[in-house]
Amino acid sequence: MKQFLTVGNWKMNTSLAEAITLAYAIKLELKNSVTSELQIVICPPFPWIISISEIFRDTHIKIGAQNISFETRGAYTGEIAAFMLSDICSYVIIGHSERRQVMGESNEDIGRKLIAATNAGINPILCVGETLQDRQRNETESVIREQINKALTNVRNPTKLTIAYEPVWAIGTGSPASPSQVTKVIDNTIRPELTRIYGHSLGADMPILYGGSINNNNAMKFLKEDSIHGTLLGNASLNAKQFSDIARLTSEAKIST
Ligand code: PGA
Repeated sequence: MKQFLTVGNWKMNTSLAEAITLAYAIKLELKNSVTSELQIVICPPFPWIISISEIFRDTHIKIGAQNISFETRGAYTGEIAAFMLSDICSYVIIGHSERRQVMGESNEDIGRKLIAATNAGINPILCVGETLQDRQRNETESVIREQINKALTNVRNPTKLTIAYEPVWAIGTGSPASPSQVTKVIDNTIRPELTRIYGHSLGADMPILYGGSINNNNAMKFLKEDSIHGTLLGNASLNAKQFSDIARLTSEAKIST
């Protein structure tokens, strides 16, 4: 069965009070309007995860982390291990471009994080995407193939894996990629790479999301595409109405038809 998702990444935003207000507003907005067939995931900053998970405990909304350590346990100051999150978080975002670019995460680091997540029973959302320079040099395809291959080399149990295609040049810029640019990368690069690695039965059904400057006005253009199984939202996830509108649109586009 295909899985459809709306994922909100709050990044390093919100005070505790703001996070709680936002969570209650989303809970109220989405009351009665979304079925369990749509997976809604909210990824708050680490210190607020427990408080926010309590707010959503009696709902279909799941909690995700924005990152995890690739180490399992021990003397790694400031790191957070997968086992510490597995009771609270159903999902974890891995390899977001801000972590690749700002924190210098490599494809190999990301591969180790994917294994840490799957071993702990947390569903990973692997982000891939090219920079503007990669695109201008016609290297989009090779960059994304490499990101997927290196990250997934040792991931033997990918059943809970979601991929998010996020062109770096579209994140937080207000200028999303066009739906045809997105479907071209998914259909010609990401999906074939997944089926090559995992075979048709697993690779064909893995959810692939789009992320990068999605809002409630442009979301439907992307959600109408069969190749896109949902969205990963940054800015729009910090606004309860925007986030909930996009979840409702996803339900409308993917589930009620
Ligand atoms: P944005 O961020 O929606 O603010 O462009 C997307 C992301 O970083 O996943």
